[in-house]
Amino acid sequence: MTDSNRAGNIIKQQSDYSAFIPNPLPPDPPVRMEDELVRLLSDADRALGKLDGTSLLLPDPELFVAMYIRKEALLSSQIEGTQASFIDLFENRNDPTIANHVRDVSNYIIAMEYGLERLKDLPLSLRLIREIHSKLLFNTRGYDRNPGEFRKSQNWIGPQGCTLQDATFIPPPPQEMLKAMNDLEIYMMTEDNLTPHLIKVGLIHAQFETIHPFLDGNGRMGRLLITFWLCHKEILHRPLLYLSYYFKQHRSDYYDLLMRIRQQGSWEEWLKFFLRGIEEVARSAVDTAKDIVTLKNKHEMIIRNNLSSSSALKLLDYLYTSPLTSVNNAADVLNISYPNANSLIKRFCDIGILSQADEAQRNRNFYLREYVRLLQIGTDPIR
Ligand SMILES: Nc1ncnc2c1ncn2[C@@H]1O[C@H](COP(=O)(O)OP(=O)(O)O)[C@@H](O)[C@H]1O
Ligand SMILES: [Mg+2]
Repeated sequence: MTDSNRAGNIIKQQSDYSAFIPNPLPPDPPVRMEDELVRLLSDADRALGKLDGTSLLLPDPELFVAMYIRKEALLSSQIEGTQASFIDLFENRNDPTIANHVRDVSNYIIAMEYGLERLKDLPLSLRLIREIHSKLLFNTRGYDRNPGEFRKSQNWIGPQGCTLQDATFIPPPPQEMLKAMNDLEIYMMTEDNLTPHLIKVGLIHAQFETIHPFLDGNGRMGRLLITFWLCHKEILHRPLLYLSYYFKQHRSDYYDLLMRIRQQGSWEEWLKFFLRGIEEVARSAVDTAKDIVTLKNKHEMIIRNNLSSSSALKLLDYLYTSPLTSVNNAADVLNISYPNANSLIKRFCDIGILSQADEAQRNRNFYLREYVRLLQIGTDPIR
């Protein structure tokens, strides 16, 4: 069944182009809770519950939170062109291009942490969305694109360099955009016991992407909204879901399904895709957590069996929060001399825990190889 007016209407504008004016949420006719959708919803709920439960059992939950936030930030930024790798996030490189890309990711982390903090005592409002957006784009390549402010001009979506005439999709003009955002705010703030939270956040994300209220950063802001919603509604007590992993893997489906909502009113198809993603990524996040705990135990055992230095376990703990180090850095962190740090790192290399990152460099960096390999799954930049 298709319903071309269910999500909104394409309306001809004065300056001779047509823009999409979305209908307010919820969809009308309402989301059809067919068997498959119900099943996917319950699978996703269960997987999220398990992920949330895992986070309570972890020996060092903050460690996972910090790493998973980095992973989500990186993946979400990569979807639209950020070219940093996981290891770049820990390295201080002089290359300005890499530094720019890394800044996208650090801002995403700052924006996420800021939003989560604010949401402890505020509802998810348009004002908060704008505040978070200003953190997201602060001092980045998008800095000239009105961070923290809704757009005052028409925008469009399509292949790079395309014009309004050959755009794939034209979001609402500024005035209608503001109205749509106000409607979205009301929808977000209205308590409604009938719509499951996961359905609601799936609708909100898609609607946000359709409205495209900013000149840049709409994809990232819309994905942040998902994390905020899950934490705000206490579905997750910590931001442990790196859903962008799934959006990145299925990027063309992600875009196609958003388009089909607009063109055919296919909310159900989008929701199925969205819920499948939540389930898949929640499971993968649980597995990653288990793998990390196992790996850390293994590393601790290797160290106990091979090294007597009291700094060794301290260095290991540090590496699990920041898996890349130089000798100088290790000496600082552990408060030991350069030669001692040097021989400790050499021992870590000998027993296979650390590996040298880049042979050519004078200022050699070493990284916790197996740990990084676990975390960086799926984070190769899209070239
Ligand atoms: N062809 C498309 N169809 C539907 N949505 C799209 C399409 N292309 C891009 N988008 C949406 O627009 C977002 C990019 O918008 P943009 O404002 O540049 O955000 P960001 O800078 O965070 O990537 C994508 O992440 C996606 O959500
Ligand atoms: Mg962009």
